[in-house]
Amino acid sequence: MEQYVIKGGIPLTGEVEIGGAKNAALAILTEAIMTDDTVTIENIPDVSDINALLGALSYIGATVDRIDRHTVSISGETIKSVSVEYEFIKKIRASYYLLGAMLGKYKKAEVPLPGGCNIGSRPIDQHLKGFRALGAVIQIKNGCILAEATNLHGAHIYLDMASVGATINIMMAASLATGRTIIENAAREPHVVDAANFLNSMGANIKGAGTEVIRIKGVEKLHGSTYTVVPDMIEAGTYMAAIAATGGDAIVKNVIPKHLEATSAKLKEMGCIIEEMDDSIRVSVNGKLGKTHIKTQPYPGFPTDMQPQVAAVLSTSKGISIVTESIFENRFKYADELMRMGANIKVEGNTAIIDGVEQLTGARVCAPDLRAGAALVIAGMMAEGVTVIDDIVYIHRGYEDFDEKLRGLGAKIERVNSEKEIQKFKLEVV
Ligand code: UD1
Repeated sequence: MEQYVIKGGIPLTGEVEIGGAKNAALAILTEAIMTDDTVTIENIPDVSDINALLGALSYIGATVDRIDRHTVSISGETIKSVSVEYEFIKKIRASYYLLGAMLGKYKKAEVPLPGGCNIGSRPIDQHLKGFRALGAVIQIKNGCILAEATNLHGAHIYLDMASVGATINIMMAASLATGRTIIENAAREPHVVDAANFLNSMGANIKGAGTEVIRIKGVEKLHGSTYTVVPDMIEAGTYMAAIAATGGDAIVKNVIPKHLEATSAKLKEMGCIIEEMDDSIRVSVNGKLGKTHIKTQPYPGFPTDMQPQVAAVLSTSKGISIVTESIFENRFKYADELMRMGANIKVEGNTAIIDGVEQLTGARVCAPDLRAGAALVIAGMMAEGVTVIDDIVYIHRGYEDFDEKLRGLGAKIERVNSEKEIQKFKLEVV
């Protein structure tokens, strides 16, 4: 089992390049199988969630060619099965996008029901409600969702909450249904827009993605396309938080500053200096950061996927900050770990009250999930002394070359896999 070892106290400086958005790529790679033509997708991040999804696509018979580290070509022509194994959904929840993709293309799909996960119970009732409205018969049998339609047709669908997954899944199926579909209370996240843009590039007719109402006119078939995934706003936000946390001064490159507005606004409230350029953002700090309050909300609100990282920064910001999580019920698992590093955090229900301490100190901690793991890396870089983080497999689900990119900004971080290597690192940095 690998660990990260970090010697804290070094302000991050220089430049870091952001990759393609993992969550957009998960949707787009699945959409790619909806045509029998070959599709080429560029700017795919090389992270384990993406590789798990590519495994699921190969499993059902799609031809998946990794042209280079960030480019994949896919052909859905060779697909032989509309049934996905539990093993894949266990590794990558977003395999549920295969429901919408296969229901649209083959009018039939069989995908295991994803259970809860580390951050919450995560039901998919809104996805299924949408498929039913489109005319599909949905049965749950032996832990599997069986979706089948003799006549997949347009419908007027109101989502009870602005779910990213449900919006994208319904958009996929509706693109190959007959007639018009309207999705009300649709999610507005940049990856919903990217997933819609890609479907349109394949010949779909989707309007309004990025607003609360998406209108889809079904088409008979989709065709091949070459498409580049948008930059990852959460990867970018994570580096912005890390620069702020260490009192650094660095540029985050290859971003869409508009997507980062909620994160930028909060960092500014805390006292960071944020300079937006066309496709990059400079973050710098002048003096001690202060408190702020955060409430996670669907886009354009503050993203739940940035909550742990910014909470880590708040752990040493002057004053009492209140962080309210309104999307997932189990997103404060980092709090106990941060407290082992000296933070003062009280979690009550969906609220964390963070009383900023002067300084964190290095400790051995465990990454509870992807973003909480990133938060602990940030905490390690803020802390005095050495921090060891276990279970970093979670972090590799969503961050490509995390340690390497942080070293590029001057951080002292190594990826190790034995106690001997941890001791060696400690001896080297004291
Ligand atoms: C996506 C992102 C995830 C991010 C989340 C919120 C991907 C692969 N993952 O997850 O990183 O944290 O958006 O921005 O893109 N809900 C229901 N029923 C449903 C669907 C959702 O009750 O059918 C609830 C969820 O439990 C949650 C809220 O709605 O409370 C939002 O979830 P949703 O937007 O669907 O998140 P995901 O698409 O799973």
